[in-house]
Amino acid sequence: MAAPVVRTPASQGLDLLVQARRSVEPGLREWAGQLPAVARRWAGYHLGWLDAEGRPSVEAAGKAVRPALAFTAARAVGGTGQDALGAAVAVELVHAFSLAHDDIFDGDALRRHRPTVWKAFGVPAAVLTGDALLSLACKVLADTPGPQSARSVSWLAEAVAQLVEGEAADVAFETRTDVTVAEYTAMAADKTGALMGCACALGALAGGGGDVRAGYMAEFGRHLGVAFQIVDDLLGIFGDPAATGKPVGADLAARKKTYPVLAALASATPAGQQLAAMYAAEGALGEEQRVRATQWVADAGGRQQAQQAANLELAAAFTALVKADPQPQALDELTALAGVLTHRKA
Ligand code: IPE
Ligand code: IPE
Ligand code: MG
Ligand code: MG
Repeated sequence: MAAPVVRTPASQGLDLLVQARRSVEPGLREWAGQLPAVARRWAGYHLGWLDAEGRPSVEAAGKAVRPALAFTAARAVGGTGQDALGAAVAVELVHAFSLAHDDIFDGDALRRHRPTVWKAFGVPAAVLTGDALLSLACKVLADTPGPQSARSVSWLAEAVAQLVEGEAADVAFETRTDVTVAEYTAMAADKTGALMGCACALGALAGGGGDVRAGYMAEFGRHLGVAFQIVDDLLGIFGDPAATGKPVGADLAARKKTYPVLAALASATPAGQQLAAMYAAEGALGEEQRVRATQWVADAGGRQQAQQAANLELAAAFTALVKADPQPQALDELTALAGVLTHRKA
């Protein structure tokens, strides 16, 4: 006899991501298919369905976190997932825009197990791919019928402005030595939280939730985004590239002030002091130094403190979520999703 299928919150969270990918993919392909030829090819590569030669390729898609939030937020306020299809496509396009540009800033050569767009086609192509995806996202929302259309475009524009602010701060932190945890949190809330909050808000608006509930949903997504970013920071130091599809150690090499690093630097431990000295030294950090820095972050307690900080942000997210008065089933789903996003390997 087959063993009964046990549905844990983790498997429920993963299922939601798989379903979101399935639901959003046809819309993404249809909208991106309307781009003019050159941008269509670059976007098709970046979004994962073309290879660098423009041939259909084995999928190299992302986790569909933001679409999953949009779909579930629509259900949370009494709508259906289908109501949020335009919102889901739009936020995934904006996410893809931000990644195309982010990989240039960070000098990263690998994303989703493949060369990044700038690596495959050059920096101008990656900038233009991002631009094309961002403007396409606006069009998707503007052309999606419904009373929430103009409000959604405005919300998205505000989120992108915050994302820009966050990315600017993240880059500026590389050359600063006095970054505080509070500054980090504001930066992460902008660069990552704003779009996750927007995904929740647009989903709630599309589901008929109105401005107040959408606002609480946005607050939920914003805190969740900070937690998600802290975990991304951890994976950038301690993760397995075979699982993440992204480089490991690149944040340390760029002297990024990620949460685990800031916690280690502030720890007043010998390991934290050694890390501080390495970060303050001139010149590129080689592989051997990165390995040592990784150990120091862990020894100074940065790894543990970062996971604790992610858990605290998660708690703040749930406080906001309850205020949005979500439907019970969607509350379970968002809880499962949030758990998976903050305890993940990829
Ligand atoms: C990566 O986001 C960028 C961050 C905000 C940390 P995801 O981890 O959601 O990227 P994909 O879409 O799954 O590749
Ligand atoms: C993530 O930036 C946020 C945005 C792309 C706006 P990161 O640089 O921290 O994320 P990864 O690790 O490259 O995905
Ligand atoms: Mg990056
Ligand atoms: Mg970055």
